Amino acid sequence: MKRSKIESLLKEGCPKPEVLICGWVRTKRDSKEFSFLEVNDGSCLKSIQVIVDADTPGYKSLANIATGAGISVEGELVASPGKGQSLEIRSKELTLLGGSPENYPLQKKRHSDEFLRTIAHLRPRTNKYGAIFRIRSKTTQIIHRFFEERGFFCIHTPIITGSDCEGAGEMFRVTTVSGTAPVEEDFFSKETNLTVSGQLPAEMLALSLGDVYSFGPTFRAENSNTSRHAAEFWMLEPEMAFCDLSGNMDVAEDLIKFVVAGILDECADDIALFANFVDKTLMATLTSLRDDNYVRLPYRDAIDILKSAKKKFEYPVAFGSDLQSEHERYLAEEHFKKPVFLFNYPKAIKPFYMRVNDDNETVAAMDLLVPRIGELIGGSQREERMDVLQSRMKEMDLPEEEYWWYIDSRKFGSVPHSGFGLGFERLLMLLTGISNIRDVIAFPRTPGSIDF
Ligand code: 4AD
Ligand code: MG
Repeated sequence: MKRSKIESLLKEGCPKPEVLICGWVRTKRDSKEFSFLEVNDGSCLKSIQVIVDADTPGYKSLANIATGAGISVEGELVASPGKGQSLEIRSKELTLLGGSPENYPLQKKRHSDEFLRTIAHLRPRTNKYGAIFRIRSKTTQIIHRFFEERGFFCIHTPIITGSDCEGAGEMFRVTTVSGTAPVEEDFFSKETNLTVSGQLPAEMLALSLGDVYSFGPTFRAENSNTSRHAAEFWMLEPEMAFCDLSGNMDVAEDLIKFVVAGILDECADDIALFANFVDKTLMATLTSLRDDNYVRLPYRDAIDILKSAKKKFEYPVAFGSDLQSEHERYLAEEHFKKPVFLFNYPKAIKPFYMRVNDDNETVAAMDLLVPRIGELIGGSQREERMDVLQSRMKEMDLPEEEYWWYIDSRKFGSVPHSGFGLGFERLLMLLTGISNIRDVIAFPRTPGSIDF
């Protein structure tokens, strides 16, 4: 039985059941007649105390049981007289499944995040990293629930692709031949890469099924060694037909509120760990994310605010410049103290697919900026007018023949549509207060780092 299940049985007032629990030993203490094991099975933050006396079958194996060992215990669940634990297991049978010698690196003490990254294969056994990966799982489920309840279809867009959605040239090449071989000899007879976004194919499905979302791995060969960029990360990409920019922001805001409410409700113990030990302001941030209305501000007005800010920025701001994370954080963290949608960005700094506004200077883009992280979401209304799309592509030197199918979708029954991409790991950083993206991914991939 899972430890998490025991908890809920207890809430229901179940009388002393016989249980079998399997898990890993956190600590062992011996007294004269008993040994006490603290066992954690990963199903929740709480461990359970197991009492083993000399008559217990398997008692002898205790000599080989140390921190880190994998065991199974059959016994009776009883109310515990000990402080701070409501129940314990009186062991009837103990089995050592896998021993763990003294050099087990996770002896009971506090370890630094930097050290734990070097043992990424073991760190999920700590309280903090166990909590992260449980929250990661629950957040995934809540996201699917949000879209399912709203009639969206979950789609799977390709990972290997022949087109660069963002046009930023930050792609990982996929090939089966050596660098000097002609492209015709390569697997697809064409230059291919790992996807940087599933948006373009997602648009095709939105223009057929209405509301869709794709949620999957995304790859970017940006050489930016920051705490918010990974080379491999997960992106959630909803795409809605018959939806304009304001409807797009509505979906994004509803989604974040739904996720935060769900996590506060369903992961209370794990969130409390982060609120106590990682970020003292976490509960305030999360309640604001759930309850406040988010600001919606044209990019132009944001530039004015930043220009008149008393704060010294490393990078100057002017209309037409891309905002740096220091600017994004200033707006969300210090100026408004809540999430901010910036919209109508200058077209010169945005990709080809964003809808050109009537001023012909800006596009119907929106970014959601949040405290501590900066950009969490990037999205837009898409350019549905074929002639405007084609002239944008020409302006940006994009080969039309590569995107023939995308342009085709504007020829046949083109309708207004919008969507966005949410960086899943950045969402997890927001939910937990964790400050480095490497610590919300089990096995992170960043420049120069591909262990595990
Ligand atoms: O703003 P981006 O580049 O938007 C797109 O790719 C659109 N095609 C999405 C769409 O409209 N369907 O990326 C979306 C989000 C960013 O806001 C950020 O949260 C995250 O993806 N992101 C990264 N997360 C981690 N590591 C990286 N290297 C990231 N690059 C972007
Ligand atoms: Mg962006």
